[in-house]
Formats: sequence, structure tokens, C-alpha cells
Amino acid sequence: MSLPAGTHVLPDPDAVAREAAERLIVACGETGGERIAVCLSGGSTPKRLYAILAGDDYAARVPWTRIHWFFGDDRAVPWDDPRSNVRMVREAFGHGSAIPPTHLHFMPSDEGIEAGARSYERTLLDHYGAGALDPARPLFDLVLLGLGEDGHTASLFPGKPAIDETHALVAPVPEAGLDPFVPRISLTVPALTSARHVLFLVTGEGKREPLARIARGEDLPAGRVKGEQVAWLLDEAAAG
Ligand code: 6PG
Repeated sequence: MSLPAGTHVLPDPDAVAREAAERLIVACGETGGERIAVCLSGGSTPKRLYAILAGDDYAARVPWTRIHWFFGDDRAVPWDDPRSNVRMVREAFGHGSAIPPTHLHFMPSDEGIEAGARSYERTLLDHYGAGALDPARPLFDLVLLGLGEDGHTASLFPGKPAIDETHALVAPVPEAGLDPFVPRISLTVPALTSARHVLFLVTGEGKREPLARIARGEDLPAGRVKGEQVAWLLDEAAAG
């Protein structure tokens, strides 16, 4: 099976999570500035990574006081709802995690998705320290992403307008393309690609088809997040 450029195949989901943890540590080490910006992925695949970072093997190596954690997308549900990425991330890192509370930047979906998207864009630009992105200075040090069986990433679904956004960094997504069918807020391609490193974490047989479609050059949302900074970490089941 052909695979997207920048693919690394690892034996199983645990090895994918550990490789991602190592790369996160390296990306943090490369960042000279005081603050490091990491964009978190939702979905189920990255839970293992978040737990590993907070666990005994890694916690002492993560520069918790320097990292600011942002979200690639979220569902417009209360933060304690089982569909919320805030809830997933909090549970996966563990409630007693070393993340300073002001370093976890949630998407304010309770304001409504349009206002929430505008407000999150301000949060990103305030952190970045400018009114617009400079191609020479990426917004994120590391972006983590997943892949849906329909080829979506973050909450950018095939055939929905948010995928074609070329200016705004954050977009409202009134209609999700897959379950859970609740409105979402999502970072856009310009925001997700403004990164020193992008890591897709993809595990399981169900991902073979979208991976093959992207490798063939089909125009799917995850395939639009491309560039030299993009790497795909796959387990053997996904790689086929
Ligand atoms: C979300 C995501 C989404 C996810 C993919 C893959 O909040 O749902 O950000 O893009 O990464 O759907 O999800 P799995 O990891 O659960 O397969």
C-alpha cells in the first residue's frame, strides 16, 4: 500500500505514542524562547500519548512550566460532557497533572461557535504576539493531529466550508461530517500548517483506506496539512 510522504511505521499504538512523546521532548528542546506552543489533537488515539507524558517515564523530562497547550478542535458541548475534548485531555493527562491551569487554552464553545471561533483566534494571536501570522515565524512549535476514516482532521471535514478557509485561523463548523454530530470549532489549514513540526498519530486498520487515498493525492482535509514539517506516525495495522 502506498503511504503519505513523511510516514514512519511503528509496531503498535504504544510505540506510536512513545515516538510522539520523544518527538515532543525534542521539539521542546529546539525551542529557544521562554514559551513553547503545542496544539493538542482530540479523538481517542492521542490519549495514550497524553497519559505517557504525565506518567513516570516522561513527566520529569517535559518542561511543563514553558509549554502552552492549545486545541486543534472541540465540540460545542459542556467541558464535562463525554464528547468534549477538554474532558478527554484533562482525564488523559490526569487531573493532578503538572500543567499550570493557565497554560491549558480551551476553546470557548459555550459562547456559540461563531463567537467562540473569533475569541479563540484572539487567544492564539495574543500568544503569538502579532495581529497576523508571519510565514517565517510559525504559530506552533508542535501540532498533533489525528485522521478520521473519511479523511478529516481536527474538525475539518470533506466537503464542508471550513476546509477551504484561507485567512481565518479558527472556523466555526456548524455541521460535523461524522459522529458526534454536534457543532464544532476547528483550527483551519493556515493555522495547523503554521508549525515547526506537525505529527499525525494514526493507528488501526480502519485508517488504511483514508491513508491510501491521501497517498494517491486525493484531496482530503488531512492531506491539505502538508509540507516538510509534517510527519505521519502509523502503527502496523494502519500501514497495512
Ligand atoms: C476530534 C479530532 C478528530 C480526530 C479524528 C481521529 O476531536 O474528533 O480532533 O479530528 O483526531 O477523528 O479520531 P480517533 O483518534 O478517535 O480515531
